[in-house]
Amino acid sequence: MKAKRAIRRGLVRVNKKIVLDPSYDVKDSSLVEVDKLADMPEGYWKLMEVERVLKSCIVKEGDRVLDVGSSAGGFVHFSLMRGAEYVVGLEYSKKFSRQLKEIEDSYNTFSFIMANAFYFPLKDLSKSFDIVLVDLTVEPEGTLKVLEYLGSECVKNIFLSIKIGKRRDVDALKREIGERCERYGYSIVNIIKLEKSEFHAILKRKM
Ligand SMILES: C[S@@+](CC[C@H](N)C(=O)[O-])C[C@H]1O[C@@H](n2cnc3c(N)ncnc32)[C@H](O)[C@@H]1O
Repeated sequence: MKAKRAIRRGLVRVNKKIVLDPSYDVKDSSLVEVDKLADMPEGYWKLMEVERVLKSCIVKEGDRVLDVGSSAGGFVHFSLMRGAEYVVGLEYSKKFSRQLKEIEDSYNTFSFIMANAFYFPLKDLSKSFDIVLVDLTVEPEGTLKVLEYLGSECVKNIFLSIKIGKRRDVDALKREIGERCERYGYSIVNIIKLEKSEFHAILKRKM
């Protein structure tokens, strides 16, 4: 599956030519080269796809980024490679600490905290953020709770990945997001659904 995705993303060359068809017949004598980007966690490609569809940048060069639910660091890599001024990751599962530590060792503009996003006091970081990326494997209600918590911190821009979970009525869920945004002082700049299980909302703090 990973190999197929890498081929479809144009990351595999056979005899110096990009091959886009996973069923391409490779000879024993062929030179096969795989781009290093093939190892990027899926989150990296998710942000790339969102930007491609929206034709606008989620993370800009020089941005100060908070990544809530960093996992193996897909959004983190994306932001660092875009040229973020700094990126802070927040993740509660210890199983990702090795990968996040590796990124921290490679970039002095990245640090991470192992903590529960629902309880971590952002003020303790003494840092400002231009954009907060929120991608938590929780029911929509949980993601919206993070919005409440960020709203009180005056964050300017928020990118929310909302898992649809058990909710069937996506339109009602979108309306609910709209209402919450109003309540916490945000407007929805864009909302898109690229796959069945989640959609993405870009929010901006009202002046
Ligand atoms: C879909 S993954 C995020 C993928 C990530 N954006 C990337 O780019 O690879 C969701 C992550 O949220 C983390 N998570 C879920 N609930 C959390 C919480 N309350 N606090 C911190 N992290 C949480 C999970 O452990 C998981 O690693």
